[in-house]
Amino acid sequence: MTLHRPTPASSGETPQDVARRIDALRGQLGDDVLVMGHHYQHDSVIRHTDLRGDSLELARKVDAISAKHIVFCGVYFMAESAALLARDGQSVHIPESDANCVMSQMAPAQRVDAVLRNLSGTGRNVIPLAYVNTSLAVKAVVGRHGGAVCTSANAKTMLTWARERADAVVFLPDKNLARNTADLLGIAEDRRHILDIRDGGAAVDMDAASGAELLMWPGCCAIHARFNLRQMERMRDEHPGCRIAVHPECSPEVVRAADAAGSTSFLIRYAEEQKPGTTLVIGTEINLVERLAAQHAGRITVLPLLESGCSHMARVTAPKLLATLESIASGTASPVAIPLDLQDDAHAALQRMLEACA
Ligand code: 13P
Ligand code: SF4
Repeated sequence: MTLHRPTPASSGETPQDVARRIDALRGQLGDDVLVMGHHYQHDSVIRHTDLRGDSLELARKVDAISAKHIVFCGVYFMAESAALLARDGQSVHIPESDANCVMSQMAPAQRVDAVLRNLSGTGRNVIPLAYVNTSLAVKAVVGRHGGAVCTSANAKTMLTWARERADAVVFLPDKNLARNTADLLGIAEDRRHILDIRDGGAAVDMDAASGAELLMWPGCCAIHARFNLRQMERMRDEHPGCRIAVHPECSPEVVRAADAAGSTSFLIRYAEEQKPGTTLVIGTEINLVERLAAQHAGRITVLPLLESGCSHMARVTAPKLLATLESIASGTASPVAIPLDLQDDAHAALQRMLEACA
């Protein structure tokens, strides 16, 4: 590879100029670089991606990538998972390392460990199931406690997997995904308990926990928590006969009142399956809803349940993607680092999911 000398970005540079520079640099870097992107990324970033997907698809695709450098356009935990699954000698880069999923920060690793130790101390076999929206340190704790990872696309399969192996499952950090998945599996309300995680994990109500089989971390996604029944009723009034599809990070009330719920890739397929003339209302991050509205314009009408954007996903921009490619070309890039002491346990938790859902 010839060494690339970056052209300083000028303040008057238009989005088209940035896109042209990315295309030119990609041409120069060739097969050495592959760009992955999550569906919530803005179109100005998505247009440069070689692979797109929901969290599960993106994690699964890493294995087949032979490029030396993977640039991951999404939030940090996704790039971290890709780095964990990448081959020796392959590096993973994220254009903005501060693109942190807020929900993933609701479950600090030390507290997860403390809560799991408390619960296991009673002699019950307690297995943790971590939503992929967690830090690598949490995945390592989960791996050490014999647990696994899940995504919105396979939460039902993975909760079944965990229930078959334990007296109780600790689902973290998304209480909404936990409750929606429990609804799908018919786990009774009186067999569920939302954990009190205060006091560094010492405040757990052990009596209440001992009577439950699903112990839920009290986290949620602020972007999906904005959707509510009032918005759904208004949409059904204003667009009689419309279909409403939502992401399972929405509250159970919203999911129960929707016509369908599923991962970001499920929502994309659901839009494709709608008959011409349908009005489809979608409750998820706005970049994906707007892309679907544009893609299906003239065939179906796609409307947002509410314009709700993930500001962390939005931290990855085309100019930052360009800067990352420049740094790879000049040999000055800093790849996502995986702490060696966490690697094996975190990998085990992810691998259990990939094997259970092969
Ligand atoms: P998916 O796995 O459905 O793409 O969701 C990821 C996410 O962060 C949703 O908020
Ligand atoms: Fe995290 Fe919510 Fe953003 Fe998804 S939409 S990345 S769960 S903050």
